[in-house]
Amino acid sequence: MRVLFVTAEAYPLAKTGGLADVSRALPIALVRRGVDVRLLMPGYPRAYTRIEKPRIVAKLDPILGIADATLVAGTFPDTDLPVWLIDSPTLFRREGGLYQDEAGRDWPDNALRFAFLSHVAAKLAMQQTRINWKPDVVHANDWHAGLLPLLLSLEKGPRPSTVFTTHNMAFQGNFTSEVLPSIGIPDHCHTTDGTEFYGQVSFLKAGLSYGDRVTTVSPTYAREILTPDFGCGLDGVLRHRDKEFSGILNGIDDTLWDPETDIHLPQTYRASDISGKRTCKIALQHELGLPLNADTPVIGFVSRLTHQKMADTILAAVRWIAEQDAQLVVVGEGEPAIEAAMSEIQAQYADRVSVTIGYDEPLAHRLQAGSDILLAPARFEPCGLTQLYALRYGTLPVVRRTGGLADTVIDADAQAIADRTATGFVFDDTSVQGLISALGRALALYREPLTWRRLQLHAMAQDFSWDASAAKYIDLYSEVSGIPYTPADRTVQGKDEIPETARQIAR
Ligand code: ADP
Ligand code: GLC
Repeated sequence: MRVLFVTAEAYPLAKTGGLADVSRALPIALVRRGVDVRLLMPGYPRAYTRIEKPRIVAKLDPILGIADATLVAGTFPDTDLPVWLIDSPTLFRREGGLYQDEAGRDWPDNALRFAFLSHVAAKLAMQQTRINWKPDVVHANDWHAGLLPLLLSLEKGPRPSTVFTTHNMAFQGNFTSEVLPSIGIPDHCHTTDGTEFYGQVSFLKAGLSYGDRVTTVSPTYAREILTPDFGCGLDGVLRHRDKEFSGILNGIDDTLWDPETDIHLPQTYRASDISGKRTCKIALQHELGLPLNADTPVIGFVSRLTHQKMADTILAAVRWIAEQDAQLVVVGEGEPAIEAAMSEIQAQYADRVSVTIGYDEPLAHRLQAGSDILLAPARFEPCGLTQLYALRYGTLPVVRRTGGLADTVIDADAQAIADRTATGFVFDDTSVQGLISALGRALALYREPLTWRRLQLHAMAQDFSWDASAAKYIDLYSEVSGIPYTPADRTVQGKDEIPETARQIAR
């Protein structure tokens, strides 16, 4: 089984959020099961410094007027996951963010940049480049790769099957119809059954409409987005695809996220000996300039600072939190107004609250290990990974009952505590009161060390590794392509051929 996995980000080559974590962990889990996966993504400058054995394997013929593109092959660090980076000085070799410039404005040519990603993927999939490798299934992720299922659907002859995954219906890749001539989509596809969405071109709608199968990242979110409240205007499209649509829960990469082996922690720990977690907490308090006290509950929040993640509600709860005997540690970046307000509360409650604005991967690990409670509320959450990391680190999550949060955390009500099934604290109401009541329950139970310890043990014993979910993707690939899956030793079919021209470029 050969799968071309197409994504805009994958850790550690490029990351803005959970898509990057999944785009690394799922392909690795598939490779381990004998699937021949190749990952294709844009060649952002930093990605080259992070892949192993980079080499140019093909010069690409001009597509969409872009004539400077080559494919660079390599592998993910410390793994045998092969990656192809699309190197194009015009489109991807620039400083700034993946999707935005340094001032936080979307790159004006995003439609072209990600249309190009799909066009290159389609050429690869149809063996119209010099790469001698043919996928059975093309797995396109999020709006960035949304045009890919559409492009492949236009092929007359045999073509790979397509799976499209939406990781978040709120990010749609909608552009004015003026981009149409530049993105290589035939006019007849720009209808209400195709890419047209309220007069715009929607890359997400293209993926949802043309994927042979469509998935999202948790069963509950899969049900929610069939309704107008969660479908962001595209629920009708999904209802139309009901029979080909399903939710598969994300897992976590336990080679990176495991308190027993985590290289970012001052001290590692495991369920049978959790003493190292206290050391992590003191070290975190020290690092962030908070009073050192292993008994004070530390509440962590590592997240995009956005409306989705209820960062505004957390802000509104800060005064209450500051009145408790607790510390709040925030690491995040996002909406400028929320960032500014967060910095203000840090100044106001310096002995209780620490706010780090920015993106800091090692600190995210230290926050998970050093906190007792993780805040992961959300107005909607396709899956959410931070609550899964928290469970693994014995940090009990406080979540709202929505999407993947509802699927992964069991509320510590009296019954679940007695049954020893509880793993965290779940609330329904999006108001500050909703959040405070769940956090209040958490802080009260924290003062009951034996019960707390039992909850931690149960949380740490949850299995959210990719085992079960990778198997579900394989079943889906098998079903859609008609190719039986035999978990044999991996046989890579065809070698990447390095034509002489590419060798010259490499030199
Ligand atoms: P989303 O993708 O919607 O942002 P997820 O929970 O699926 O939410 O994934 C978020 C990922 O991004 C996690 O790996 C989390 O640790 C990480 N993350 C979020 N904000 C930061 C930050 N400021 N610094 C470091 N890591 C962060
Ligand atoms: C998106 C979602 C998040 C999910 C992640 C990976 O960013 O917001 O809930 O965990 O994708 O699928």
